[in-house]
Amino acid sequence: MSARTRVAIIGAGPAGLLLSHLLGRCGVESIVIDSRTREQIESTIRAGILEQGTVEILAETGVSDRVLTVGQKHEGIELRVAGEGHRIDFTDTVGRAVWLYPQHEVLKDLIAARLGAGQDLRFGTTAVRVEDATTSRPRVIAKDAEGRTVEIEADVVVGADGSRSVAREAVTGTYGGYFREYPFAWFGILCEAPPSSEELIYSNSPNGFALISQRSPEVQRMYFQCDPDTDTEVYTEEQLWEILQSRVPGTTLNEGRIFQRDVLRFRSFVAHEMRRGRVVLVGDAAHTVPPTGAKGMNLAVADVILLTEALRALLLDQDETLLDAFPETARHRVWKAQHFSWWMTNMLHLEPGASDFDRLRQIGELRSVVESRAGRTYLAEAYTGWPL
Ligand code: PHB
Repeated sequence: MSARTRVAIIGAGPAGLLLSHLLGRCGVESIVIDSRTREQIESTIRAGILEQGTVEILAETGVSDRVLTVGQKHEGIELRVAGEGHRIDFTDTVGRAVWLYPQHEVLKDLIAARLGAGQDLRFGTTAVRVEDATTSRPRVIAKDAEGRTVEIEADVVVGADGSRSVAREAVTGTYGGYFREYPFAWFGILCEAPPSSEELIYSNSPNGFALISQRSPEVQRMYFQCDPDTDTEVYTEEQLWEILQSRVPGTTLNEGRIFQRDVLRFRSFVAHEMRRGRVVLVGDAAHTVPPTGAKGMNLAVADVILLTEALRALLLDQDETLLDAFPETARHRVWKAQHFSWWMTNMLHLEPGASDFDRLRQIGELRSVVESRAGRTYLAEAYTGWPL
């Protein structure tokens, strides 16, 4: 089976779906494939913070009905340092905000919009490899749900297929990237309880980091720092509440039934290349950040906004200059976000084997941020997102 389109997009995550949505609005047709079913995509729990610029692009392009009604606008976060709470006020420092709206809800909105527009969106279709990157007719070789080979020929192939990207090999070779691992992970829970705090609390405590986040008035999301090899079943519910509670001194958590547990490993990665010929990588396929700065999905959105302009110029005006500039322009923001995510991570987590010096220095660092208007402004500017 073969198909032909202008842009073949591998991956129906935030990057792939938003790209096809924005291209569709410029009159550029695309095919999106994903190995997962629609149900899997719409139910996988991921991060939940949207930068103001991300919400603005959803609003400008008609997919913001739910984010603006169900999502919650957050005008600040709290950093908890040695039991003292310090609010970072986004409105006061930078006049911007973020929205708490889980990634899978964004995906539901985009899938509904794409199917509503008659988009060729193929679930259960797994990319196997990308061929002919340096020609003007690159191709995706894939397998459909019945195991039949599907070939999609396009003007451009976009790998929006996440950290285990199949498209990446066609761009950089398998190992082509800058890489860092961290000696800790997050143990995440979802529970049925009322919120314990109106805003997110990022807590640096002597027992390690915890993040108190939310999902809705009835469901809460919380994380605590753990060893990357932790088995999700090792703790009883009672133990989980004890650990979480011990890491947010100063707050009494509202407890409730824990109905999901997961361990998220931390990684920082930037591919050496984001483009080879007519194959381009966006989002997690090109870069991964640890979750502490809530940058992952927002960075994917920033890539896609840039790439849309570049593909529009190439495919509608035969002008390749923006596509030539794309990797350099995208990487400028990517490395700023890499730094912010690394900085938040290192400032808030306790390294295994940290000395008293390390611990006290870290508290000094946190205080130098929270007690200074310049420090709070720096954090707020990065967290709410640099201009797109
Ligand atoms: C989440 O609610 O899942 C969340 C919020 C903030 C982060 C990471 C994850 O930095």
